[in-house]
Amino acid sequence: MTELTRFGISMEAGLLNQFDKHTAGKGYKNRSEAVRDLIRNALIEEKWSENEQVVGTVTIVYNHKVRELAEKLTHQQHSHHQEVISTLHIHLDNDFCLEVIVVRGKAKEVQHIADELIGTKGVVHGKLVCTTAGIG
Ligand code: NI
Repeated sequence: MTELTRFGISMEAGLLNQFDKHTAGKGYKNRSEAVRDLIRNALIEEKWSENEQVVGTVTIVYNHKVRELAEKLTHQQHSHHQEVISTLHIHLDNDFCLEVIVVRGKAKEVQHIADELIGTKGVVHGKLVCTTAGIG
């Protein structure tokens, strides 16, 4: 495990009180872990805003009985085969399918692929989760 470095943080009592309530609600055991997650999130946001190499998951729900929709979604993924690295497909019920598509590439391209999939007519819900291949 990487060696930990300790450092102090000064802030107003009211702000710290709100932060403690926020982190307790999320189940953090201590402030350090909560602060580490905030820092990781900030670094991931920076990678995305600077169009660096990123990884994301696109989750979509759609009705496979809608004419040509499944074919269209498959076609879109094939046309981005360099970036689309894996797809999980679950038949939710007789009509609806859930797909989780893992996309890796430049942030703008990953965002573009997500927008295209989520924006396809007939997709009833979609969301891109922006993450990273790793933080140094
Ligand atoms: Ni299905």
